[in-house]
Amino acid sequence: MLRSPAAALLRRLAPRITGCSGEAGSSTRRTLPPYISSSSFLARFSSTPTSSPPPSSVGARDDEAEDDKLPGSSGDSGARLSISVDRAGLYSPPEHSHEPSSDSDLVKHLKSIINFRSGPISIAEYMEEVLTNPQSGYYMNRDVFGESGDFITSPEVSQMFGELIGVWAMCLWEQMGQPEKVNLIELGPGRGTLLADLLRGSAKFVNFTKALNINLVECSPTLQKVQYNTLKCEDESVGDEKRTVSKLCGAPVYWHASLEQVPSGFPTIIVAHEFFDALPIHQFQKGSRGWCEKMVDLAGDSSFRFVLSPQPTASLIFLSKRCQWASPEELEKVEQIEVCPKAMEISEQIADRISSDGGGALIIDYGKNGIVSDSLQVCILKLFRYT
Ligand SMILES: C[S@@+](CC[C@H](N)C(=O)[O-])C[C@H]1O[C@@H](n2cnc3c(N)ncnc32)[C@H](O)[C@@H]1O
Repeated sequence: MLRSPAAALLRRLAPRITGCSGEAGSSTRRTLPPYISSSSFLARFSSTPTSSPPPSSVGARDDEAEDDKLPGSSGDSGARLSISVDRAGLYSPPEHSHEPSSDSDLVKHLKSIINFRSGPISIAEYMEEVLTNPQSGYYMNRDVFGESGDFITSPEVSQMFGELIGVWAMCLWEQMGQPEKVNLIELGPGRGTLLADLLRGSAKFVNFTKALNINLVECSPTLQKVQYNTLKCEDESVGDEKRTVSKLCGAPVYWHASLEQVPSGFPTIIVAHEFFDALPIHQFQKGSRGWCEKMVDLAGDSSFRFVLSPQPTASLIFLSKRCQWASPEELEKVEQIEVCPKAMEISEQIADRISSDGGGALIIDYGKNGIVSDSLQVCILKLFRYT
């Protein structure tokens, strides 16, 4: 993409991340959580001869080594089992400072996650917080599109874009035998411009528009309101129930936080434009230890920096899935691979829905056909006024 949402990070939010300078744990500020190494674990679970009396357990802190008598042991001599619990990795209080900070709420939040974990987070987690954190996520409480926003998308450039997609949708509906009810689903509709142009363009084909149940999958409450206005929605009472209807075509409109929530059982037409490129990605880098996940950590000066995971992460499973679709020659050439598990999951949901309900999907995004190494971009634009 320009992960156009990276435009996300564009102007306001983008916490800066410096390049991947090394493996996690090489930070000057602090070391990574003490991962359990078998030697340190065994050293604390050992049978030791002792001649001195065991310390009283009364009043002893449970994080101190305790030498309790074993049932059946004679007490003050002979081999005894010493057990203690290494709690160092269980809680690591976040660093606390009274210094005034210029960090935004989102940056503070990201730093607190990394501090609380005592270790780095995946790029996917970082990206998800930056884009869709309910309080300060990029999309969540502002309209970022168009000339007055941060970036522009095809539907915002020309109405022809949505109208042409409308022609495709009507052809598909015809091919399906003009079903009386059809779920028209748009994933990540932004301002709702594409759909509004689609509905205006197809308004004369009344049998088509009468069949529509419009379902919008949108995570942002602010953009949901913008979509409501763009589609000229009104709330209506039908008996005891309320429903929202688009006055552009008279079709009912529903909003959902995910595709899974859209009711199934009808033939389905799915449209997604620049939606998949807004989903969080993981990145993996080839190294002497094999593929390691690239993570986001804090450097000594508290800025964000990339590090490599010190040990395999759970998301490696998605890397191996991705690699199944690549040729050995292609894999040989790349040093870094980007994987989007959420995109894999949603694609599977789309395929399942279409195979059970019938229909089709039109997914439009812009990028390379093949392994993507690094599409994540963070730009900060500073505007200067020349006088
Ligand atoms: C790059 S914009 C594209 C907008 C629109 N399709 C267009 O072309 O103008 C991505 C859209 O997906 C929405 N979105 C991003 N992540 C989402 C998620 N996980 N679930 C639902 N919607 C999401 C954003 O709020 C936004 O509406």
